[in-house]
Amino acid sequence: MSERVRQLYYGDCLSVMREQLADESVDLVYLDPPFNSKATYNVLFKPPEKMGEGSQIKAFDDTWHWNLESEREYDEILQNPQSSDLANLMEALRRFLGINDMLAYIVHMANRLLEIRRVMKPTASVYLHCDPTASHYLKLVMDGLFGAKNFRNEVIWHYSGWNRKLRDSYNKRHDVILFYSKDIKVVNFNSYALPWESEGEYVKVRKQKVRLDSDERKYVLSDKGGGERVKRYLSEAMVYGKPVDTIWDIPKLNNSDKEKLSYPTQKPQALLERIIEASSNEGDVVFDPFCGCGTSIHAAEALKRNWIGIDITHLAIALIKKRLTDAFGELAITTRGLPTSYAGAMELARADKHQFELWVIGLLNAQPYKGGRKGADTGIDGYLRYKYIVEGERDPERGTAIIEVKGGQTGVKDIRNLDSVITREQAEQGILVSAVKPTKKMLEHAAGKGLVKLGFQEYPVMQVIWLKDLMEGKAQVLHPSYRIDHTKQAPKQEGKNQLKMEG
Ligand SMILES: C[S@@+](CC[C@H](N)C(=O)[O-])C[C@H]1O[C@@H](n2cnc3c(N)ncnc32)[C@H](O)[C@@H]1O
Repeated sequence: MSERVRQLYYGDCLSVMREQLADESVDLVYLDPPFNSKATYNVLFKPPEKMGEGSQIKAFDDTWHWNLESEREYDEILQNPQSSDLANLMEALRRFLGINDMLAYIVHMANRLLEIRRVMKPTASVYLHCDPTASHYLKLVMDGLFGAKNFRNEVIWHYSGWNRKLRDSYNKRHDVILFYSKDIKVVNFNSYALPWESEGEYVKVRKQKVRLDSDERKYVLSDKGGGERVKRYLSEAMVYGKPVDTIWDIPKLNNSDKEKLSYPTQKPQALLERIIEASSNEGDVVFDPFCGCGTSIHAAEALKRNWIGIDITHLAIALIKKRLTDAFGELAITTRGLPTSYAGAMELARADKHQFELWVIGLLNAQPYKGGRKGADTGIDGYLRYKYIVEGERDPERGTAIIEVKGGQTGVKDIRNLDSVITREQAEQGILVSAVKPTKKMLEHAAGKGLVKLGFQEYPVMQVIWLKDLMEGKAQVLHPSYRIDHTKQAPKQEGKNQLKMEG
């Protein structure tokens, strides 16, 4: 068997695809790009008040604001030699929509979908996960790119929940997944079936009369063609399962679900397993350019597929690595775009403070403040939570270390600030990770905060760690080792309950 592909990239999938992925190299693409579906629909169509600077664009918050970057990407689509139909469509959409957030989003997606089509093998399929706010425009883009003849299905992922009594509309309870092939003539597809829940369900769906054999076996009469009827025993007929249609009832994850990690847009694994089983085979390459906390990657690994994932936030990459280790043990994963040297880390610190902080928090295997969202500086970048045993007590105590990451100059004042945060938050410890080598004065000041007894051992109240030492394994964070896992453990992978249709 050829070598396993297990690749994680940090970065904008547009540049990663352009720079790193070869033409016709993947068998299946699933993408679940971020969309501001909470924005009021008509706000998405409002013209911008003033154009922002392209150079200020960072991460996906800006995906849906029209600015110079959108204008540049729009021109790229128009000039791309592979995109003549798409270019016409984009011009028409620009006339129809006007310049607004919706157009910015569509341009952003169209440019990336162009690259996605390039990396797909002729036999490959693509599943674009979106919601009804923009799915109709994205379908036009997909038709423009892949050709209407390659449209396979619009899958409705339906999830139930507590429906409120609304005065002006129905409750929204579904996402849309647009499924296209690159070339219908050679597309790879395996019919997908689920087990029948009961004989009763089978009979109800088939609308056939159940009869009893002389030896009490249940059967139905099926048409064999030419008016001939044949006996089909229920026990045999049901083996093939129930081929799924385009309405997929799969529960959304809630916080108490075993597979739920601390990633807000995480999709259920069952959804991804279905897509991967239907549209790829063992050994194929599954590609997710917006991989988030890696649901598609996890499902691909479980189903013995190769995989490539890209995400623009360090938090996602750190989470995926941990998720895979929890579920499958140590795997040989190639990561690209993450700092591997101290110089690379300094560069990230200069280029993007927020991503630098998230990357360091990931290095410590800690929990980012507010799930990694940007916000007012509270003096907290992350937490390490743990438990420790106290002599004579049956239940362990819980403790927290507050983490502060500094990418630029630091000094004693930062230790004083962290100390007041520890007091305010009633935490046990503080950890300051500094990109710049901490001064002797800082180390002395930190040491002066003394030790705290946590269970049977004493630990420093304040630790100041130079990032270079951390990266080279010369420094480590000292805290009780019984970690409370904020991300929750991805459950160990087990076999599952799905049937494959024959033929
Ligand atoms: C809706 S989430 C995906 C969730 C994923 N399906 C899961 O189950 O975890 C979208 C992801 O796209 C990432 N993202 C946004 N813009 C990106 C870009 N230009 N390139 C790569 N990733 C991007 C975000 O960081 C976010 O993690």
